[in-house]
Amino acid sequence: MTLDPRDVGQGLCGSSCKVRGAHLPYINRVPNDPALATEPLSTLLRSGSQQEHREAESSPFMAELVDGRVDAAGYARYLGSLRRVYAAIEQVAVELRDDVIAGPVIDPALERLASIDADLAVWGSNPQDAAAIDSPATDAYVVRVLDSMAWGGLFVAHHYTRYLGDLSGGQAIGRVLSREYDLEPGAGVAFYRFEQIPKPKPYKDGYRAALDALPLDDAGRARVLDEVKVVFSLNGDLFAELSALLPQYRR
Ligand code: HEM
Repeated sequence: MTLDPRDVGQGLCGSSCKVRGAHLPYINRVPNDPALATEPLSTLLRSGSQQEHREAESSPFMAELVDGRVDAAGYARYLGSLRRVYAAIEQVAVELRDDVIAGPVIDPALERLASIDADLAVWGSNPQDAAAIDSPATDAYVVRVLDSMAWGGLFVAHHYTRYLGDLSGGQAIGRVLSREYDLEPGAGVAFYRFEQIPKPKPYKDGYRAALDALPLDDAGRARVLDEVKVVFSLNGDLFAELSALLPQYRR
């Protein structure tokens, strides 16, 4: 199913949706930024989301986590939210695997659900507890991922922001967690290990080449960038929620 981005205005779960604020408006932007016409999509997404990336990096929850000051329950809660987000991403990926826009970046080697479940067990949780987390930020994020099924370009934004992040900064975060929490080698950090992608660098180069070859016009590329920014803000909301809970998860 491939819709034009301009056709997409209503969330797929329609007026029955109970998740407040989940369906952010889709912006019908007229592209007027010269970078849209000249820069490859991979460069556009990277440079266009730098500010949002810096904000994500500076979240108190992440800062405390990489300093080893979040307890196992706190990290399990974060993983539990991610489990719900990746379940949605990986569900949409199955639906869009033959999509002309999303298909070229979808790759089962990226799937994280089994790794997250393995990590949840190490951090004292499980998929059932993850499903029961009371988290409006997770609810909103999941709805937005599911909505992205409406147009491959929207899903590419979700796919890029999570998986390329996991293959980039995520690699360092995994190493820091192993060290700060004295984990057995490899235990509890499967999320950051891509068994089928032993060398993230060439994989990311190939991913960027695939992004750059996607059949998108300037309006479509602008929509992908807009959605990447939305995805960063959804991740920011998740971190804000976790940051507010830090006192109860202090290690
Ligand atoms: C403590 C938190 C974080 C740290 C330390 C971190 C660090 C990094 C680093 C070092 C890179 C590589 C930059 C480069 O190649 O020059 C990167 C790339 C990336 N990160 Fe993060 N990151 C963090 C959080 C996040 C979050 C929360 C997201 C989104 C959910 C994210 C998404 C990305 C993406 C999409 C890229 C790839 C950019 C590109 O090459 O196109 N990061 N990150």
